[in-house]
Amino acid sequence: MIIKVFVFEVLIEAPLFFGRGNHLRRAPRGAFRGPEADGSDNLASAIGAPVTLGGGQRAYGVFVSPGTGYRNNAARGIAVGDQPEGMYAVLDGTHYNAGCCFDYGNAEVSGNDTGNGHMEAIYYGDNAFWGSGAGPGPWLMADLENGLFSGRSPKNNPADPSVSRRFFTAAVKGKPNQWALRGADAQRPGPLSTYFSGGRPAVAGYDPMSKEGAIVLGIGGDNSIGAQGTFYEGAMTAGYPSDATEDAVQANIAAAGYATASLNTGPRLAVGSSISLRATSSCCTTRYIARSGSVVSTRVVSSSSAAALKKQASWTVRTGLGNGACYSFESVDAPGSFLRHHYFDLVLDANDGSKQYAEDATFCSLAGLNGQGNSIRSWSYPARFLRHYHNNIHVASNGGVHIFDATASYNDDVSWIIGAGFA
Ligand code: AHR
Ligand code: AHR
Repeated sequence: MIIKVFVFEVLIEAPLFFGRGNHLRRAPRGAFRGPEADGSDNLASAIGAPVTLGGGQRAYGVFVSPGTGYRNNAARGIAVGDQPEGMYAVLDGTHYNAGCCFDYGNAEVSGNDTGNGHMEAIYYGDNAFWGSGAGPGPWLMADLENGLFSGRSPKNNPADPSVSRRFFTAAVKGKPNQWALRGADAQRPGPLSTYFSGGRPAVAGYDPMSKEGAIVLGIGGDNSIGAQGTFYEGAMTAGYPSDATEDAVQANIAAAGYATASLNTGPRLAVGSSISLRATSSCCTTRYIARSGSVVSTRVVSSSSAAALKKQASWTVRTGLGNGACYSFESVDAPGSFLRHHYFDLVLDANDGSKQYAEDATFCSLAGLNGQGNSIRSWSYPARFLRHYHNNIHVASNGGVHIFDATASYNDDVSWIIGAGFA
């Protein structure tokens, strides 16, 4: 693994017992473009998914934001055609969305949708466009291309449950005219539950399968990049593993002792307190994050400023709306409205109660990257930090396609002195 500027450059093998060197790298442009200038996908931040194993050993998963994707179109030893295969992954059951498609597994070598049966991958999320399970989701399903399947019915399998586990073991396997979906709480010993085991979906093109043998992580077969999720570990096998073999893997996972680790590595913020955030870049040390209507920018504020401006520059620290391990910042001036990012600009909007809003309004605290104060990163886009740029504020990465992702003065622009609120 090479860590480069907070991103995972190369990270995962699909070990076929001893590994085949099937490293997954930044996914290239497919039928759909990724966010990078050449149409490739973003790499994952290295700090988005910290955990501990075995009672304290720190480890990092792959936190996939929409736009992040990994792929190997020249993998060796992966099933093709209707050959048997199996795969498992340990995921964060609380990190998902309805975008297409948070997948890990077998996909097209071209990055294009080449037809039904050209994929066989773990899917995790609450996309119900193709198929669904019981309840509101999220569900483990199989992405077999042009469809996310929970069972033989292309529409619904009531035996495929909504998942609520923080750590979730997901398994998909397939062989001629037979496939299965199995899952379990990754923190508890015991066999995987079988959500489905039976014949291929009753739709033309899936029996026999036409697997191509590329590997994807975090994206659809055609490089659809709308999904989010977290991958901690996984493997793909040649051959159809028995349930007993999968259960032995699950016992091993449970014994590894996955546990959560703090997402905040900087000075703690006191929930309920009123704070101000002052810029530390040499241009701007009298400027604070303040709102004017829904626009959020840095403005010069002091103890002698007008009372209205003091309120506009004061923020109540709340437990993170989208993840209780991080924070949200409610406007003292406009209670019920929180700082949130929208197309990577920081804005102030009223809380509409949606999952999207909650996640856009959730930020985690690190020690300031320039050695001063705190740096505040987006929970949902861990490579993106609150940054002032021409006095406007964005969630910006250190280098990237937006003008506000400029590397010059980045560490200064993302470091803030957190003080008492003005109001
Ligand atoms: O099967 C669901 C998705 O449909 C695939 O991942 C993608 O290639 C196509 O858009
Ligand atoms: O700010 C990035 C994304 O833009 C947000 O997650 C979403 O609400 C908007 O589409």
